[in-house]
Amino acid sequence: MPSKKLGLLIGAEEEDWPSALEAMYRRHDPVAAVNGEPLHVQVERVRVHPFNLRADTSYDAVVDRLGHWQLNPREWLKKVALFNGVYLLNNPFTFQSMEKHSAYVAMMRLGLHVPKTWLIPLKTYPDKPGYQETASRYYDWFDLPGLAGHEFGYPLYMKPFDGGGWRGVSRVGDEGELMTAYDASSQTMMHLQRGLENFDIFVRALAIGPQVNIFHYDPTRPMHDRYQVSSNFLSPEHAAEATAVVKTINAFFRWEFNSCESILKDGVLQPIDFANACPDVAIVSLHYHFPWAIRSLLAWSLFCVASDRPMRLDMNTRDYLAIADSERSYPEKLAAYEALADAYFDTERFAEFRATQLGHLDQVMWELAQAQEFDDMLVHNVCLIFPAHEQEQFIAHFRGLIAAWVQAEAR
Ligand SMILES: Nc1ncnc2c1ncn2[C@@H]1O[C@H](COP(=O)(O)OP(=O)(O)O)[C@@H](O)[C@H]1O
Ligand SMILES: [Mg+2]
Repeated sequence: MPSKKLGLLIGAEEEDWPSALEAMYRRHDPVAAVNGEPLHVQVERVRVHPFNLRADTSYDAVVDRLGHWQLNPREWLKKVALFNGVYLLNNPFTFQSMEKHSAYVAMMRLGLHVPKTWLIPLKTYPDKPGYQETASRYYDWFDLPGLAGHEFGYPLYMKPFDGGGWRGVSRVGDEGELMTAYDASSQTMMHLQRGLENFDIFVRALAIGPQVNIFHYDPTRPMHDRYQVSSNFLSPEHAAEATAVVKTINAFFRWEFNSCESILKDGVLQPIDFANACPDVAIVSLHYHFPWAIRSLLAWSLFCVASDRPMRLDMNTRDYLAIADSERSYPEKLAAYEALADAYFDTERFAEFRATQLGHLDQVMWELAQAQEFDDMLVHNVCLIFPAHEQEQFIAHFRGLIAAWVQAEAR
């Protein structure tokens, strides 16, 4: 029986998606047939240790939730991608070089409606030889309140150019808050961005390979209550546009496990945060939508190993720019970008694989969501995240949401 090995690179306080994905692979064994032979996938949690840069590896693919945050696993990922041809969700090279700032620039270049954004110099120069002197010789003085008032007006957002996890993000309501936020930014390089308020809706998309799910997201709520259960909150046109935007972003950068936040305001869908490779998929964040994420992770990781999908380290930026520079309208460009994305993701072959090989996947996920091991995982994770006096309440809360998903799926 042919066999493949899938590695999971896991962050702290994450016992949910790894356990659920392991359980799905266990319950789904053999997971598919390759050339008529059943395929067995061994799932293993990757461990960090010294490695020879020329070493072999036993992994065929790795689902990564850690490389972006920690240096050691990140450099291991780069090594196995370059040297061993291991398939990765996501491409660590483009993620490192195209975090929020370059991702904004690239998508602006494609014509996406990213809100107006400026980069401003550091408030405090690092205390390193040469920095002070270069600054005094070549950095221009600038009038921050003048720039903010003239280019943006209030409110605006000040946020780190390489953001993540809401670190250092400020809503700036007036000149006083602007100066306070800039002082506080210290040695972190910041963007100023047009603030989008009184909007129609805030959406957050989760994408795994070509599988995209758009959720109504309420950033004003506490963490466990931001993803809303509701569906049909976007018109079919805006839902299709949001999907095309996310697929374009991900295929462009070779990100296959990413989330994208967009604000629909005055009918215009504006992506504001989309360099979130290895996004949060915790059960305490996704709750009702968690089974969708696990099922989709299984489907895509399995497709990649079963089809020996080659890891694409290079980008085809020029193909996108040629479309950007053409005379097409925005919807026509988006459709052309989406076609490139579908070619990259092999969307058609994936859909066929899912239909012919994974017909019982929904059933397996549905059964797992009702199994004791799933409930144990839920309880364990709630206890990891919430203080003792809140655990009982939140266990009941998340159980209720999972039960609602089970019921909806049964229909
Ligand atoms: N331009 C903006 N207009 C309105 N709200 C914004 C804007 N930029 C950020 N926000 C709010 O701040 C939150 C954090 O900003 P974001 O860019 O997503 O940072 P991070 O990368 O740290 O998640 C967003 O989820 C949103 O609620
Ligand atoms: Mg964000």
